[in-house]
Amino acid sequence: MSNIEQTLSIIKPDAVERNLEEQIKTIFKDNGFVILKEKKLKLEKNEAEQFYKVHETKPFYNDLCEYLSSGTIIVMVLERENAIKYNRDLMGATDPNKAKDGTIRKLFGKSIDKNSVHGSDSPENAKTEIDFFFKN
Ligand code: CMP
Repeated sequence: MSNIEQTLSIIKPDAVERNLEEQIKTIFKDNGFVILKEKKLKLEKNEAEQFYKVHETKPFYNDLCEYLSSGTIIVMVLERENAIKYNRDLMGATDPNKAKDGTIRKLFGKSIDKNSVHGSDSPENAKTEIDFFFKN
């Protein structure tokens, strides 16, 4: 049975700064994703805190929110079969040093913070995250 899903993807400041937008989008498209919606923006710190609220008890929360709000990002709604899991496999491990060859984070990530891309980790979070950026 088909399971077409949508997931939220973010190209993070480290990747936008290095002009990796087109290369990363090409990887998504070559892997069968359709970019349904996209926008380029810069978050305020309090908006990043809201976006990453699921991590608010983590020791890295403040740095994470500082970082996400430090520069321009590109947010996209990506669609394909099993989009959420497929995208997480394509991104690779959170820490680029542990990511498998050929994954986006292995190719472009600099560190666990500057890991170039974000992707929703569950259907519930995908909905929340898509609504965060694209409601109305
Ligand atoms: P992301 O997929 O955007 O979700 C949360 C982010 O927190 C993660 O990518 C990392 O960039 C960042 N992060 C920083 N430190 C850690 C850590 N120790 N474990 C997991 N994520 C971390």
